Amino acid sequence: VKGGYEHFMLKEIHEQPNAIKDTYRGRLNAKEGLIRMAGIDDNIERFLNANRIIIIACGTSWHAGLVAEYIFEDLARIPVEVEYASEFRYRNPVITENDVVIAISQSGETADTLAAIKLAKSKGAFVFGVCNVVGSSIARETHAGAYTHAGPEIGVASTKAFTTQITVLTLIALKLAKEKGSISHSNFHYHLQELELIPAKVEKALLQDDHIKKIADIYKDAKNCLYLGRGFNFPVALEGALKLKEISYIHAEGYPAAEMKHGPIALIDEHMPVFVIATKKGHYEKVVSNIEEIKARKGKIIGIVTEGDEAVKSIADHVIEVPETLESLSPLLTTIPLQLLSYHIAVLLDRNVDQPRNLAKSVTVE
Ligand code: F6R
Repeated sequence: VKGGYEHFMLKEIHEQPNAIKDTYRGRLNAKEGLIRMAGIDDNIERFLNANRIIIIACGTSWHAGLVAEYIFEDLARIPVEVEYASEFRYRNPVITENDVVIAISQSGETADTLAAIKLAKSKGAFVFGVCNVVGSSIARETHAGAYTHAGPEIGVASTKAFTTQITVLTLIALKLAKEKGSISHSNFHYHLQELELIPAKVEKALLQDDHIKKIADIYKDAKNCLYLGRGFNFPVALEGALKLKEISYIHAEGYPAAEMKHGPIALIDEHMPVFVIATKKGHYEKVVSNIEEIKARKGKIIGIVTEGDEAVKSIADHVIEVPETLESLSPLLTTIPLQLLSYHIAVLLDRNVDQPRNLAKSVTVE
C-alpha cells in the first residue's frame, strides 16, 4: 500500500514530481503557449471583471492560498485577499457580486471552508473550488472549479496536496495574466517552460534526502524552531513550521524574515535552529543580511539555497540545495526539503508520522 515506503507521508512526498505533472497534464501546453482549464475558460469574464479575488482555506491549503496571493498579484495584477475560512465566515465580511472567491481544500470536506463558501454564495460572489477529492462537498458546492490531480493523500500531514494546489493556482494566474495582457508574451512562455521543468527539479530536490536526514538528527532535540522566508517563500516558511509542529510536536514558528527584528529575534540563542529560505533572486541580499543578524546572536542557521550558492553557505551551519527556477515557482522546490526534514525529525523521535495525535485528515466539525 505504501509502495515500499515506511510511511504514507514519505510516499506522498516522493510522489510530488508525478502529482505535479498529473496536475498540469492536459492543461498546459508550453510549445503552443496554451493553458486550457474548462472551469476558467467557461467563466473567464467573471475572473477578468473581478474587483478582487478572495481566497478562503484552512491550514496547509491556506498557505497555498498565500503563495497564490503573491503569484496572482505579481502576474495577473488582480488584488487578492487570503482569509482563514473560520475567521471569514464569522466576520460579517464585505462581499459583492463582483468578487471572485477561490476556496482551496484537499479533502473538500472542511466544515469552515464549506460554511464560508455558502456565505459567499449567499452574497452573490462567484465561488471557484480547488479540491483534490473528486465529488467532495466543496467540489459540489462551488460554481466551478479545477481539481488538483494529486491522487489520494493518506498521511494526515498534507504534502503533495500543497504543491499541486500551488500548481493549479499558478496555471490560473498565468491564464488570467495572459488574458489581461498583464504579462509579456516572452515572460508567459518562459513561465510555461519553467513550470514543465518543475517535476524533474522536484525529483532532484528529493535526492538531498540522506543529507537532510543527517541535519534532522542534529536538530531533533530542539524545543523550538524558527522558519524564515520572504516574498513567495514567506508562506513556505509558515508551511515548514506547520509541518514540523504537527508531526514532531516541536514548537515552530514561521515568520517573514524581515519581521524577525520586531520580536522573534529575542528568542534567538545558540539553542535555536533557524531554517531560512534563501534562494537566489527572491530578495537574496536582504535575506543574507537577516541571516547575519541571526548568526550574530549565535542562532543555528540551516539555509535552503539555490544550487551553487556561495554567500549563505559561508555563514550558515548547514545548507540544503534546490535547483534554480523562477522566483514565482520556487515554493514548489523550497517546500520539498522542509517536508523531508519534518518527516525525518518525526521518525527519529518515534512519532506517529501518518496519524499525529489530536489531528484528523479532514476536519468536518468547526
Ligand atoms: C496540514 C493539514 C491541515 C489541512 C487543513 C485543511 O498538514 O493537513 O492543516 O491542510 O485541515 O484541510 P483541507 O485542505 O482538506 O481543507
